[in-house]
Amino acid sequence: NKVVLAYSGGLDTSVILKWLQDTYSCEVVTFTADIGQGEEVEPARAKAKAAGIKEIYIEDLREDFARNYIFPMFRANTIYEGEYLLGTSIARPLIAKRLIEIANETGAQAISHGATGKGNDQVRFELGAYALRPDIKIIAPWREWDLNSRQKLLAYAESHGIPVEMKKGKASPYSMDANSLHISYEGGILEDPWAEPEEDMWRWTVSPELAPDQATYVELTYQKGDIVAIDDVPHSPAEVMDKLNEIAGANGIGRLDIVENRYVGMKSRGCYETPAGTLMLKAHRAIESITLDREVAHLKDELMPRYATLIYNGYWWSPEREMLQEMIDASQRTVNGKVRLKLYKGNVSVVGRDSATDSLFDEAIATFEEDEGAYDQKDAEGFIKLNALRMRIAAKKR
Ligand code: ARG
Ligand code: SIN
Repeated sequence: NKVVLAYSGGLDTSVILKWLQDTYSCEVVTFTADIGQGEEVEPARAKAKAAGIKEIYIEDLREDFARNYIFPMFRANTIYEGEYLLGTSIARPLIAKRLIEIANETGAQAISHGATGKGNDQVRFELGAYALRPDIKIIAPWREWDLNSRQKLLAYAESHGIPVEMKKGKASPYSMDANSLHISYEGGILEDPWAEPEEDMWRWTVSPELAPDQATYVELTYQKGDIVAIDDVPHSPAEVMDKLNEIAGANGIGRLDIVENRYVGMKSRGCYETPAGTLMLKAHRAIESITLDREVAHLKDELMPRYATLIYNGYWWSPEREMLQEMIDASQRTVNGKVRLKLYKGNVSVVGRDSATDSLFDEAIATFEEDEGAYDQKDAEGFIKLNALRMRIAAKKR
């Protein structure tokens, strides 16, 4: 009778831990991961120990997350509803996978998480878990208990000897989630879609108004669609995320304020900071612009919204995602080269792109000056006439 809990060490999951022990009289295994949220994970160990936990998993998954989730997703130029870079969505499949692996290792029959019954995250955790282990039992306390207010949660914590130090200072007025790709804010005053967030809500980016008056240039080197170097210095995927978050954040890049459609049916207002991701989307499109065949690029673009929705809705571990991924990855064989970006006061623009090995851009053909005969302008006449044929026939009829 064992359950693996996705445990952050914060107040909510500490209450869940205790509640699981009391309600199910089960042994709890805790799992805490560093996925780049920027908070120490080690303190979770002492807290878990104090709660009587014997099996405590604390893992640094930053490279795994960047290499096997963020990077593959960016190969597709993925964006949900034209705006959202899927910062939270893409982290959930990794957590689901580790929860199942740990359940298998420790002989647990169940997993548990702290996502509410109104959101996307429960769906992502649970679809992932079922896909990876069909007989897994899932305990979602937020859907079961009656501790559905901050007040009740605190009262439970106090009456069950959970150190209220866990509130750690002033509680944030937002529901937040952070990892190497983004930090998100929902709830509180944001529930009014007309209300502009306070400037001090934003944590990872300076206000564009206060960003440097000098532009910053950065060069990204791509291999098979992935960034492998910044300004010619090689970096691992997790390092790429850190470096680019820093450079973009300092220039006020990556803020987003949207209303999105949740899979469970409601609209929800969210604010996001995705500094590195905003550069990566722009730069990846630029390197593809010279290295991909037109029809391949367009086909990718048509499938992208499907792929994005799939990730948003929690189907990372599905056969259709895996099929799309193979296709996307195959398209990236020629996506090699360099992109030069200019960052200035909240904006990123592409100012150069180059591929020594795979550029399909032919200056000799594209030039407005005289070319060397590879393109005969006379050919364009017939090309246009035949393409116009059906419209001319229709026009005659009218
Ligand atoms: N609305 C975003 C999404 O569905 C962010 C969710 C943030 N999750 C959270 N537990 N705070 O991907
Ligand atoms: C939650 O934590 O359940 C709310 C956010 C979401 O899952 O969409």
